[in-house]
Amino acid sequence: MSKDKSPREAAQPTMTDVSEAQIAVHWPEEGYYAPPNAFIAQANLTDERVFQRFTLDKFPECFKEFADLLSWSKYWEQTLDTSHPPFWRWFVGGRINACFNCVDRHLGAHKNKTAIHFVPEPEDEAVQHLTYQELFVRVNEFAALLREHCGLKAGDRVTLHMPMVAELPITMLACARLGVIHSQVFSGFSGKACADRIVDSESRVLITMDAYYRAGKLLDHKEKADTAVAEAAAQGHRVDKVLIWQRHPGRTSSPTKLDGGRDVIVNDVLKEYRGKRVEPVEMPAEAPLFLMYTSGTTGRPKGCQHSIGGYLAYVAWTSKYIQDIHPEDVYWCMADIGWITGHSYIVYGPLALAASSVVYEGVPTHPDAGRPWRIAEQLDVNIFHTSPTAIRALRRDGPDEPAKYNHHFKHMTTVGEPIEPEVWKWYFNVVGKGEAAIVDTWWQTETGGFLCSTLPGLHKMKPGSTGPAIPGIHPVIYDDEGKELASGSGKAGNICIRNPWPGAFQTIWKDPDRFVRQYYARYCKDPKSKDWRDWPYLAGDGAVQAADGYYRILGRIDDVINVSGHRLGTKEIESAALLVPEVVEAAVVPVADAVKGKVPDLYVALKPGLAATPEIAKKVSASVVSEIGAIARPRQVIVVPDMPKTRSGKIMRRVLAAISNQQDPGDVSTLANPEVVDKIKALAK
Ligand code: WTA
Repeated sequence: MSKDKSPREAAQPTMTDVSEAQIAVHWPEEGYYAPPNAFIAQANLTDERVFQRFTLDKFPECFKEFADLLSWSKYWEQTLDTSHPPFWRWFVGGRINACFNCVDRHLGAHKNKTAIHFVPEPEDEAVQHLTYQELFVRVNEFAALLREHCGLKAGDRVTLHMPMVAELPITMLACARLGVIHSQVFSGFSGKACADRIVDSESRVLITMDAYYRAGKLLDHKEKADTAVAEAAAQGHRVDKVLIWQRHPGRTSSPTKLDGGRDVIVNDVLKEYRGKRVEPVEMPAEAPLFLMYTSGTTGRPKGCQHSIGGYLAYVAWTSKYIQDIHPEDVYWCMADIGWITGHSYIVYGPLALAASSVVYEGVPTHPDAGRPWRIAEQLDVNIFHTSPTAIRALRRDGPDEPAKYNHHFKHMTTVGEPIEPEVWKWYFNVVGKGEAAIVDTWWQTETGGFLCSTLPGLHKMKPGSTGPAIPGIHPVIYDDEGKELASGSGKAGNICIRNPWPGAFQTIWKDPDRFVRQYYARYCKDPKSKDWRDWPYLAGDGAVQAADGYYRILGRIDDVINVSGHRLGTKEIESAALLVPEVVEAAVVPVADAVKGKVPDLYVALKPGLAATPEIAKKVSASVVSEIGAIARPRQVIVVPDMPKTRSGKIMRRVLAAISNQQDPGDVSTLANPEVVDKIKALAK
C-alpha cells in the first residue's frame, strides 16, 4: 500500500481496474431443492428456533454455546473483550489446549476409532488407519522431539511445508500440544514462496517431507526446503533445523544431499522418543494457534493469525451443525491442508468432534476420474466436501463414473468459489445420487470457518447461491458510497459482517495496521469508537442478497484472482514477471475457465528496443512458477508493444481483461494510446 494515501482511500478498490465482480457471470435465480428426508431425520440441527438464540441482542453471550463444545482446563471469564477495536478477544481468561481437545479427550470413548484414514495416491499402497490412541502416541512422540531435539516452546513459530500425508496433522497437533504456532505452507508452493513465509514468521525450524506422490510421480520435495533455506538466508534469516519426514519410513526418497548440522531425518531421531509423553500446555484462549498466509490486495502474502479458543470453538460448532458430523460418520474433505479449508475442516473441526477424517495424498482424477468414488466406497465415506474446480474436473473426465460405484453420501459440501448451477446439479444428481443435502459454504482464510451456508437439515438448497448467514453471523451489503443496501434488494454491493465472531482472525502477523486498514477502515463509522457496531468487517467480495435472504457471491472486489479456488494476488504474479530483466511492465487479468473458474493471463511490456520472442514469454512463465508455484502459471504470457494506459499513465487492466475474455473492451477513445488496443487484440488468444 503506498504511503501517500490515507487509510480510507487506500482501502477503496480502484474502479478503473478490473475486478472479478465486474466480469462475474450473472446466473439467473434457480429453483429450490429440498434436503432429503432421510438426512433431516438424523440431522444434528433441525430446530429453526436456532436463529432466535443468535439474534444481535443476544450477542456476544450466544457464542457460549460454541465454547461449550470444548474442554477447558480453566473456564473463561469474559465472552468478548472489545476494549481495543477491532482487535476482539474471545473467551478471555480461559485456558485450553487444542491438541488435548482433538486427541486426548476422545481416548475414553473412542480410542479404538479411526481418527485419520490416510489414502496414498498409488492405488496399490495400503490405506493407513490411525486410531485416536495411535494418533495420541505419535503426536506425543513428535511433540517430545520438537521440545527436546529442537528446543521449541510455546509462542515459537515453525514453518511446515508438507504434503497431504498423515504426518501433517500429526505435526500440527504436536505443535498445538506445546503451544507452538504452526504455519503450514501449501506443498505446491515453490521453495521461494516458502522462504518468504519463513522469514515473515521468523521460523527457526522448517518441517518437510522428502517426497510425495502427485499425478503418478514421486516428486522430490526436500529440494524445495534447500531453496527455501538458501533464500531465507539471502534475506538475512537463518533456519537452524530442517526436519524431514520420510514418505517411505526407513528409506530416503529424495536425491538431495543432507546438510549434516541442519537436516534431521525425523523417522531416525523419533526412535529416541518412543513412548514419550508430553503434557499438553495449558494456553490462554487468546494465544495464537497458527498462521495461514494468504494473498491480499497488495504485495506480499499476509499471515492471518488464528486464536486457539475462539477458532477451535467456531470450527467445532460449524463442523457439528453445518457439516453435520456425528462420531460414527466417515468424513472426507478433499481440500489440501495447506489451505484454510484443510485446517478447519480436515483437521481441527472434525477431530474436535472425534470424527474419522480422510486425508488423500494425490489428485482426484488419478489414475482416472473414478478414484474418489472408489475411495468413498472402500472407506464408506458418508460426508464429502470439495471445491467446484474438483467437481468440474471430475465431471469433465468422468461424467458417468459415480454411478459405477456403491457409495452413498448423506451430505456434500462445495467451497471456495461460486459453483455454476449446471455443475451443482451434476454434483447433486450424479455424485450424490439425489440422496445428499448439499451446502455451498462461503468463507475465507480470515474468517476461520463458514459465514454463509444453508443449514443442511432446515433450509432448501438453491444452486449457485451460498444461502443465508449461519447462526451468529449478521451480514450487511454496502454500496461504494457506504450506504446500506436494503436486505433482499437483489442489488450487488460489498458484503460485510456487522458483528465479531469467535472464528475471525486476530490480526495480520506483525502488521496490525494493515489488518485495520484492509478489513475495517472502509466502512468504519467512527475510528475512535469502542463499540463493535461501528466496525463492520469488509470481506472483499461482491455479493447480492435475493428476496428469500439467500446470498450469491460474485467474486473479489480487489486484486485477487481465484484460480481453482486458490487465492492469488495479481501483484504477486506481476512482481514475479518483473524479475525477468527484459520486462518493464506487467499486468495480470483473470480469464474465465471451464474447469478452474479463473486463470491468469499475463501481459508484459519489454524494455525499449527489445523484440518479443517466445523465449522471453517462457522465462516470464518460469519466473512465476519458481516464485509462487505451478498453480500461478499463466495461461498465456502476451508480450505487448505497450500497455493500454489512461492519460495519467495507469494501466487499464479492464481493457486487457476484456480482450482475454473475448469481450468488447468498450470505449477506449479516452486512453492515452487507443491504437495499441487492436495490436494487443491481434496478439492475445
Ligand atoms: C471465494 C476459502 C463463492 C470468495 C474458504 C472468498 C467463494 C475467497 C465461496 C476466500 C463460495 C469462498 N462461493 N465464492 N461458497 N467460498 N469463496 O481465503 O471470493 O482461500 O473471498 O478461503 O474465496 O478464499 P480463501
